[in-house]
Amino acid sequence: MTTNPNSLENLPQHIAVIMDGNGRWAQAKGLSRTEGHHAGAEAVRNIVTECRRLGIQYLTLYVFSSENWQRPKLEVQELFDLLLEFLNSESRLMEEKGIALKVLGDIRSVPLAARTALRNVCQRTSKGADMTLALAVNYGGRAEIVHAVRRLLHTGTDPDSVTEDSLAAHLFTKDIPDPDLLIRTGSEQRLSNFLLYQCAYTELYFTPTPWPSFGTEHLRAALNDYATRSRRFGKTQEQTHGR
Ligand code: IPE
Ligand code: IPE
Ligand code: MG
Repeated sequence: MTTNPNSLENLPQHIAVIMDGNGRWAQAKGLSRTEGHHAGAEAVRNIVTECRRLGIQYLTLYVFSSENWQRPKLEVQELFDLLLEFLNSESRLMEEKGIALKVLGDIRSVPLAARTALRNVCQRTSKGADMTLALAVNYGGRAEIVHAVRRLLHTGTDPDSVTEDSLAAHLFTKDIPDPDLLIRTGSEQRLSNFLLYQCAYTELYFTPTPWPSFGTEHLRAALNDYATRSRRFGKTQEQTHGR
């Protein structure tokens, strides 16, 4: 276990982020929620670039939850417009930088332009081997599990032969290892239906910093904190550290 607060040892292989606090960030500055989401999109560009530079293999971002449809119609529309803008402006760079885009969630109800762009960019970047950027769009953890159970049963699997792995193979994250570190910005300390199955042994990091203010120095603080964690997966400390 490292104790050097400045070291970047023990980097997580997979970071998942609940990007929260755009609205409150904007409100505190006398700006509109829309401006908060715009600033949030800038933070996304920054953190994707930094994770790629650090060699993080998987970055999963919670873009839109299945519960976020309950927001005002205009805000929902703006969020998907921003997603489209992000995909249009970043796809070429993603291709160049070897970043593969993946989508977690049922995007059939996502507005057509954003849905089409998601599919196109996934296809265009599919060979990217340096980092996987997974965007959770219309994602809900409980719905994902129900969906996986249904698909598993449709394969004709004998209920008694269902395993944790066979169920996981039907989740949206089937090709992605479980997150090592989950970061939630914006003060709240809850999962809000994010990666419920996958976060069984994920290290949790909550910060009051709202998402639009979350920069490379905040990421570094989260990584330094993660590096000090002792992940035991149910074993004793002695077993974990081979003492
Ligand atoms: C996160 O910021 C963006 C999404 C959930 C899409 P919020 O919009 O939830 O910001 P707050 O929580 O209202 O501050
Ligand atoms: C979680 O944030 C969803 C995303 C960041 C996309 P919310 O703002 O929707 O979460 P709650 O409602 O505060 O739990
Ligand atoms: Mg919020």
